[in-house]
Amino acid sequence: MLGTFAETCDNVTYSRSKIGIYYRESSPATVTGENLAYFDGWKAYEENPFHPIDRPDGVIQMGLAENQLCGDLMRKWVLEHQEASICTEEGVNKFSDIAIFQDYHGLPEFRQAVAKFMEKTRNNKFKFDPDQIVMSGGATGAHETVSFCLANPGDGFLVPTPYYPGLDRDLRWRTGVNLLPVTCHSSNGFKNTVAALEAAYENAHEANILVKGLLITNPSNPLSTVLDRDCLKSLINFTNDKGIHLIADEIYAATTLGQSEFISVAEMIEEIPECNRDLIHIVYSLSKDMGLPGLRVGIIYSYNNQVVNIARKMSSFGLVSSQTQHLIANMLSDEDFVDQFLSERKLRLAARHAELRTGLDGLGIGWLKAGAGFFIWMDLRNLLKTATFDSETELWRVIIQKVKLNVSPGGSCHCHEPGWFRVCFANMDHQTMETALERIKIFTSQLEEESLNRTKPMAKKKKCWQSSLRLSFKDTRRFEDGFFSPQSPVSPSPLLRAHT
Ligand SMILES: Cc1ncc(COP(=O)(O)O)c(C=O)c1O
Repeated sequence: MLGTFAETCDNVTYSRSKIGIYYRESSPATVTGENLAYFDGWKAYEENPFHPIDRPDGVIQMGLAENQLCGDLMRKWVLEHQEASICTEEGVNKFSDIAIFQDYHGLPEFRQAVAKFMEKTRNNKFKFDPDQIVMSGGATGAHETVSFCLANPGDGFLVPTPYYPGLDRDLRWRTGVNLLPVTCHSSNGFKNTVAALEAAYENAHEANILVKGLLITNPSNPLSTVLDRDCLKSLINFTNDKGIHLIADEIYAATTLGQSEFISVAEMIEEIPECNRDLIHIVYSLSKDMGLPGLRVGIIYSYNNQVVNIARKMSSFGLVSSQTQHLIANMLSDEDFVDQFLSERKLRLAARHAELRTGLDGLGIGWLKAGAGFFIWMDLRNLLKTATFDSETELWRVIIQKVKLNVSPGGSCHCHEPGWFRVCFANMDHQTMETALERIKIFTSQLEEESLNRTKPMAKKKKCWQSSLRLSFKDTRRFEDGFFSPQSPVSPSPLLRAHT
């Protein structure tokens, strides 16, 4: 059931020579998804980032799923709790205890505080056992470790589409496993259906790929949707019936807005007594719910003791530093702060969501009605020349080059239908959001004008967004070499480079 690595890890059979072969055989860009427009958008932004004074014509970054709306609350707490930092006068007496060697179990107070936080962000309806928590370098590291634990190179995980583009890198890059798309459709709000799961499972079977699990992201990135009780139950039953694992990425647990209710897989399994819990694993991190992606606090919560043991050993390669553990243990144990932070954060996110939503509604631009995450799934299907991904890319190039907004095209999220775009809204200030909406307004009115001109027989005016669609980078070599800046979501693998 588990991957070879997992099966042999306890006997210290760590060699995986097959993985090396896998690297050489696979095209790096295909495996990591580096060639997707999602990452091109990042490059364009890095070339010419928007600044209200220095670069008012620069690209506005709307491709970054980060909440920067609550940094002030976080800074205030850090300033008021200098004892939580070991590099301050108030905290330095703990320096030696914290800075000495720490093993991969993690500080007990850290795991306890994280377990409590995970309960809070799931409405305190059930308990998490701190002993089942394994640390990792963000959810990124958690995904890879789980993938290593559960699958062998060549095995596959079902993943409903569209999905977060980073998963190609996180689950596949070094493990050599496959991601098997489960096609979801806009006609039913991109719902995960058992029929679609069965079809993808069958396809894998025909392609001789052993399916080891189903990976869901709930709330969804990029859709912003949350799975309802019935759907979640059907996914648990499907995976249990097939005897495969269910990995729930719940990194956006505390980002629901309005009527949306997040239900954790941990809550659902309480209602399914016959569920085989050995098959259930949660991936979590503090990157989204606490807005701390730079601290790389990732969590694997597994109900399977074998996975916990092995993942813990593997976590040596991606531990959360004890300095960060100490800070986070203190911060999350301050329940008053956490409560206030979460409720204020909800208000600010809701206000920003409403701003973008209202702006799009006012311009007659559709979006998937959902309320979670830091993004809106925008529907521009009616702006495509043809219902193809080439047209989507063409439109995306116009949006980035002419409108100067870096949004993520649905194709980069493996969406099955062209014309959808993910628009992030929480990584900028109010003024920048206003500028972004203003640019969209100008763009849509230009399109209207062009369509009017087209109806006039003499009008030979070319669509302004049809010309010069290719992005031009000042120094293309930089990107051809596989160079990505530290802010870029994907960096090239030194292993891959060594082999090519
Ligand atoms: C669904 C999902 N999973 C995992 C990650 C990676 O998160 P982390 O920064 O904790 O590695 C992201 C980041 O955007 C994400 O959206």
